[in-house]
Amino acid sequence: MRKKFVAGNWKMNMDAAGAKALAIGLKEELAKCQDAAKVDVAVCPPFVYLPLVAEALAGSNIGLGAQDVYTEANGAFTGEISVDMLKDVGCQFVIIGHSERRHVLGESNELINKKVIATLAADLEPIFCIGELLEESESNKTEAVLEMQIRKGLENVTAGQMAKITIAYEPVWAIGTGKTASEQQAQDAHVFTRSIVKDMFGDDVAAAVRIQYGGSVKPANAKGLMTQSDVDGALVGGAALNVEDFIGIIQGSISRGCGCNCKC
Ligand code: 13P
Repeated sequence: MRKKFVAGNWKMNMDAAGAKALAIGLKEELAKCQDAAKVDVAVCPPFVYLPLVAEALAGSNIGLGAQDVYTEANGAFTGEISVDMLKDVGCQFVIIGHSERRHVLGESNELINKKVIATLAADLEPIFCIGELLEESESNKTEAVLEMQIRKGLENVTAGQMAKITIAYEPVWAIGTGKTASEQQAQDAHVFTRSIVKDMFGDDVAAAVRIQYGGSVKPANAKGLMTQSDVDGALVGGAALNVEDFIGIIQGSISRGCGCNCKC
C-alpha cells in the first residue's frame, strides 16, 4: 500500500518570524499525534527561509523541500539556485513544474524535464506537478494535457528513478480558487495519470508511484479526497500556512482517523 504524502507549498508567503513559528508549531503539533508516522509530511518554504525552517524542524520527521531549482550545477546564472545548494541546506524534495511556474513564469515541458533530470541526478526527490487550465478542462482536453506533461516531463527518467518521484495533480482552476475538484474528478485524473506512468514504466512503477492532489485542499475536504483509492496525499497551498489547517489535512489523510490527543 502506498503511504500518504502531504506536502505544504508555502509559495511566496511568510517572513522569517512567521516561517519559524509555523515550522515550530507544526513540529510541536505533529509530535503530539501518535498516528503521525502513518503519513509522510514535508514543507516547502521560500528559498531564503530554507535554512531557518531546517533548523526549526530539526529532530522531527517533517521533510524539507524547495519550490523550484535550476538545471545547471553552478556558474553564471544570476538569481538561480542549484541542486547542490538545496542539498547543502537540508532539502530532500523539490517541487518542479508547478502551474505558477508553467503559466506565470512561462516554463516549458522541456525546461521542467531538465529540472527533473538534474534533481534526480543529485539524489533529490522531485514533486512533479501536472494539471490542466480551466479552458482545457472545459474543452475536454484534460487527458491530452496531462499525457503531454507526463510524457515530456518524465522523458529519459528511468523506471528505477521513478521511486524518487511524487506526481502532484493540480488542476489549475482549483488552485487558490476555493473550487476543489470533486472526489471523482480527482480519482479519474489520478487513474489516468497512473495509466500513462504504466505505459511508460510498467506495472510495478505505476502501482508504487504516489500521486498527490492539489487545489484548494482544506481540512473539510481532505478526508473525502484522500479516501479515493488513487489519491495518495496532497500538495497544499493556502491551508499549509496555518498549523491547525495543515494538521487537519494530515489527519484527514490517515485513513482510520486519528484517535490521539493532538489538535487534529
Ligand atoms: P491552494 O491549496 O492554495 O489551492 O494551492 C494549491 C497549490 O498550488 C499547491 O502547490
